[in-house]
Amino acid sequence: MPVTILAIESSCDETSAAVCRDGKILSNFIANQTVHEQYGGVVPELASRAHMQHILPVVDAALKKADITLDEIDAIAFTQSPGLIGSLLVGSQFAKSLSLALGKPLIAVHHMQAHVLANLIDEHKPSFPFLCLTVSGGHTQIVLCESPVNMKVIGETIDDAAGEAFDKSAKLLGLPYPGGPLIDKYAKEGNPKRFSFPEPRIEGLNFSFSGLKTSILYFLQNAGKSNLYKEEFAATEEEKKQFIEENLPDICASIQHRIITILLNKVKKAAAETGIHDICLAGGVSANSGLRAAFTEAGKKYNWNTFIPTFQYCTDNAGMIAITGYYKYLAGQFADLSVSAAARATW
Ligand code: KG4
Ligand code: ZN
Repeated sequence: MPVTILAIESSCDETSAAVCRDGKILSNFIANQTVHEQYGGVVPELASRAHMQHILPVVDAALKKADITLDEIDAIAFTQSPGLIGSLLVGSQFAKSLSLALGKPLIAVHHMQAHVLANLIDEHKPSFPFLCLTVSGGHTQIVLCESPVNMKVIGETIDDAAGEAFDKSAKLLGLPYPGGPLIDKYAKEGNPKRFSFPEPRIEGLNFSFSGLKTSILYFLQNAGKSNLYKEEFAATEEEKKQFIEENLPDICASIQHRIITILLNKVKKAAAETGIHDICLAGGVSANSGLRAAFTEAGKKYNWNTFIPTFQYCTDNAGMIAITGYYKYLAGQFADLSVSAAARATW
C-alpha cells in the first residue's frame, strides 16, 4: 500500500502545503507574504493573519496538483517548531482539525530537521551517516545525520545566523528585507578580494557572525578606509552613501566571500573530525549562488560527495515537511491531539 502524506509548513512568513507519496513529492505550493517588505523584517502579527488567509487555498491547490482526495491521505504532517508562535499556531491548529475531522494520524515535524531531510527529496541522495550544513534566517548548524529519525547538532552559531548576517549586512547597505538574495545578486558582478573582513576565532565547530556585522558597520562608517573603529576616518552620511553606491558589487562580493569562508572552514573541520564524506547543504541560505559554487568546489578538492536540494526545497517549503513526515510515518512516530506548537524546541 502506498503511503501518502499531506504536509503543512507555516513557521515564519511562507504558507506552504505539499503532498508526498512513498517519498516522492507530488506537489509543493508556497504562498509568499510580501506585506513585510515595507517594515524591513517579518511582522509576527501580520504573518499570522496572512497564514490564515492563505492556508485553505494553498492546501487545496496542493491536493489538486497531486490529484489526491482527502480520503487517500494516510497522515497529516505539520511544522510544530521552531518558529514564530502565531504562525506555527495557524498551521498546527489547521493540521489538528483536519486530523480530527478525517480520523487520520498526525505527525509533528521539527522545521530544522526537515531542512536537513530536504536532501532526501531528489534522486541524487546522500548515504547515512551524512553531515549537513543548515543555514537559514534563524539557524546555522552542522548536523550529523545517522538516519532520517536520528540526527544531532555538532556545531552551531553562538550569536547571529548566516541568513541574519546576510540580511543585517544588506540593511547596513540600505537594501530592503530580505537582503540575502540581493547581496547574492550584486556579488555576482563584484570582486570578492577587494575588501577584507575578519574571520572570527571560534573554537570547535561553532560559528559566530556578530563580529563580522560590527566590522561592516565600522567599514561603512569609515567609507571603506578601515573596518576598525577610527574616528579620523568618520564619514558623513553623504560620503557613506556615495561610497556604497560606487562600490556596491565589490562590497557585496567581499561580505559574501567572508560569510562563505566562515561556513566552509567549519564544514572542512567537521568532515576531517568525523571522517564523513557525504555532505549536504540545507536552509534558505543554501539558495546563495556563491555558497553553492564554493561548496561544490570544496567537494571536488576534499573528495566529498556533495548534495544541495533543488531551489524550491532550500527556502521554507512544505515538501521538506512531507518527506520528514513520510520517514516519521515509517518509524511509527505519531503525535496526538494534545501536541502544541512551540516557538523554541530542542532536538
Ligand atoms: O530557511 P529560510 O527560508 O527561513 C528560515 O527558516 O529562516 O531562510 C531565510 C534566509 C533569509 O535570511 C534570506 O535572506 C536567506 O535565507 N536567503 C539568502 C538567499 N536566499 C535566501 N541568503 C543569501 N543568498 C541568497 N540567495
Ligand atoms: Zn527555514
